[in-house]
Amino acid sequence: MSKITVIGAGNVGATCAQRLAEKQIAETVVLVDIVEGTPQGKALDMWETAPIEGYDTRMIGTNGYAETAGSDVIIMTAGLARKPGMSRDDLLKMNTEIVWGCIRQAAPQSPDAVLIVVSNPLDAMTYVALKASQFPHKRVFGMAGILDTARYRSFIAEALNVSVKDVQAMVLGGHGDTMVPLPRYTTVGGIPLPELMPAAQIEAIVQRTRDGGAEIVKYLKTGSAYYAPSAAAVEMADSVMRNRNRILPCASWLTGEFGEKDVYMGVPTMIDRTGVARILEMPLSESERALFNASLVACRKNVAEAEALLASMA
Ligand code: NAI
Ligand code: 2OP
Repeated sequence: MSKITVIGAGNVGATCAQRLAEKQIAETVVLVDIVEGTPQGKALDMWETAPIEGYDTRMIGTNGYAETAGSDVIIMTAGLARKPGMSRDDLLKMNTEIVWGCIRQAAPQSPDAVLIVVSNPLDAMTYVALKASQFPHKRVFGMAGILDTARYRSFIAEALNVSVKDVQAMVLGGHGDTMVPLPRYTTVGGIPLPELMPAAQIEAIVQRTRDGGAEIVKYLKTGSAYYAPSAAAVEMADSVMRNRNRILPCASWLTGEFGEKDVYMGVPTMIDRTGVARILEMPLSESERALFNASLVACRKNVAEAEALLASMA
């Protein structure tokens, strides 16, 4: 019996659960949240959707972890989004406690699961999940690059008036400000992007992609994006469950790839039933490498901060 647990029944988590059911990626989806009634109500609502949408995925909502036992994949979305007046350090501290607490409960119930982290700050929370689960690093990785890449692809498709399907790209590095777009490796119908668009227009699209999360928050005011983020996390879960060998930009633990180790970094990752099957490397130009290095500094800082917080909690 295949099972996926989604921790956090908020905007990202609940939308993940709905997408998992509609795509029939697992036989059972368990939605967990700390708020009593929320996961139960949302899971029941999704189960009542099943006859209309025609899926048989059983939906369970719970405030505990017993029902999550034996999950193949755990998607971690619980956590706070940054609110006005809250510093980045406040968010890091609060979400470290939430991610640590949730994963310490979830991991022993599903010792063979693949763990996909969404909670922010992404690189730091993926590291916290790694430590809390005590899973091998190939089974703990984070979602951010697919989202940044999807934003980038959607803006390019819009600008050129082409199908998004024909825009292939890979945005590497940390999430948001330090992402590393690679126009040289971006193709439209197989044609490199710089052949189709002036450099200034590409730069404007890159900047809009960097600011993509903030652009949505500015419209929503009380929350952040969740349709694209949930689709991205589900794409990763699908590659695990269906052993697809998809190559997707994920925050993966480096062990010498790109000449770096001991850090979570957004890199091209092949995902199979075991999690991170392989990290693909490609040559980077001097300017691309400079961006990659700057992003590495930020990711290392995030991981170090999370490590210090975990030490203070011990
Ligand atoms: P939300 O506020 O809608 O949902 C968060 C849920 O977590 C709430 O239902 C809350 O009750 C639950 N929660 C809090 N503490 C918990 C605990 N101890 N145990 C179980 N559940 C708990 O927020 P949203 O929009 O779903 O975002 C969730 C997280 O994902 C945030 O940290 C956000 O910044 C992050 N995010 C990351 C993205 C990425 O690209 N990596 C993209 C979008 C969101
Ligand atoms: C985003 O980029 C909030 O990380 C989230 O939309």
